[in-house]
Amino acid sequence: MESIIITIDGASSTGKSSLAKAIAKHYGFKHIDSGAMYRALTFYAQDHNLLNDHKFNVDMLIAKLPTIDIDFTNADEIRLNGKIIDDEVRSMEVSSKVSLVAKEPLFRQFMVAKQRKFGEKGNVVMDGRDIGSVVFPNATIKFFLEASMKVRINRRYAELIEKGVQVSVEEVHANIAKRDHIDSSREDSPLIVPENAILLSNDKEGLTELLNIATTEIDKHLL
Ligand code: CDP
Repeated sequence: MESIIITIDGASSTGKSSLAKAIAKHYGFKHIDSGAMYRALTFYAQDHNLLNDHKFNVDMLIAKLPTIDIDFTNADEIRLNGKIIDDEVRSMEVSSKVSLVAKEPLFRQFMVAKQRKFGEKGNVVMDGRDIGSVVFPNATIKFFLEASMKVRINRRYAELIEKGVQVSVEEVHANIAKRDHIDSSREDSPLIVPENAILLSNDKEGLTELLNIATTEIDKHLL
């Protein structure tokens, strides 16, 4: 079978990672959640007192990059310098600052190089904001996932509550709206619909239907 790369882009909480995971499981491919990588770097900055509500020491974080190792375990958990930080990266503290980190071009270069390396051997499903547009513009198949604001808020709120995070619907809404604005208006690699991407909507379809649509498209490339 030919080695392929599948990209799924879209805004926050549209369900990209759930669909990416389901596709990866279906074909036995690797799933890479590129958002978790930006979240890991944000967590590092906060944990090392380089980023809080009052300051962001971009230069110091840049200086630290050679000492920062971000990868995934075989079970797709995100690891920062050897430590699994799956729960830490989902905190509201990280969510509230991740887009500020992700808009800096040097941090993007750092991530894009890693993401291309993760995709080197193919048979990868990677989700994010710029995967089909910048990281793998020649990907075998590209999807762009959309959902209404209401669906996105409900998804993220339910996810956080299930994880035991204390949060209100208003906070979730404000965070999603703020990240939409920063992610779509930044100069470097803004969130766009990549050329040739297939549009999917999470409003009408559930995960099973989306997986069906996606696998029908992907199967055409595997014949
Ligand atoms: O899970 P959620 O949809 O909330 O977001 P995420 O995929 O975990 O991404 C967190 C943040 O990382 C986004 O809001 C973007 O600022 C940034 N990001 C990015 O800039 N480029 C990517 N390829 C993935 C994420």
